[in-house]
Amino acid sequence: MDQHCAVIYFSQSHHTETVAKHIQALAGGQLVRIQAMQPYPSDYRALVERVKQEIAEGVFPPVEQPDCDFNSCDIFYVGSPNWCGQIAPPLAGFLKSLDLAGKTVAPFVTHGGGSGKAAEEIPTLCPGATVTELLEVHGDGGESVDEEITAWRHRNQL
Ligand SMILES: Cc1cc2nc3c(=O)[nH]c(=O)nc-3n(C[C@H](O)[C@H](O)[C@H](O)COP(=O)(O)O)c2cc1C
Repeated sequence: MDQHCAVIYFSQSHHTETVAKHIQALAGGQLVRIQAMQPYPSDYRALVERVKQEIAEGVFPPVEQPDCDFNSCDIFYVGSPNWCGQIAPPLAGFLKSLDLAGKTVAPFVTHGGGSGKAAEEIPTLCPGATVTELLEVHGDGGESVDEEITAWRHRNQL
């Protein structure tokens, strides 16, 4: 098991969290949840409205600083829901704040129909990092999620 990895994720309704926990169970390392200081509303319409506004204005909402020794990590599994075609703004802002040059970033996205622009967006947030193929998971991945993760890790030599 690789001890030098972190599984960093944002999750509003637990799909991405479920996948993150499966990845950690298979890959090891530290599980790191990113949370906005101002929580998102539970009401779906209000949530969509706030997310659309943040995306339109290019806002990265401040996040609670996680307690994690990122310097010791070589591989960063990074997970987000697809929110309106993009990764969640708090995770995008957190990624931008890390210096991941020379590290490996293995992104995963959960979605309700497609992963949007995540595959293009994530490399721009991690300059100098090697970004692997995006793992795209519908919902929480269901029963086949471990198989999908294992095949993805194998294809990308993680
Ligand atoms: C604000 C919002 C926007 C969403 N936009 C999309 C989208 O554009 N495309 C899509 O396939 N799913 C979209 N979804 C569905 C989520 O990506 C999907 O349910 C995801 O697995 C949720 O992850 P979570 O449970 O970790 O928060 C959206 C959900 C929310 C709440």
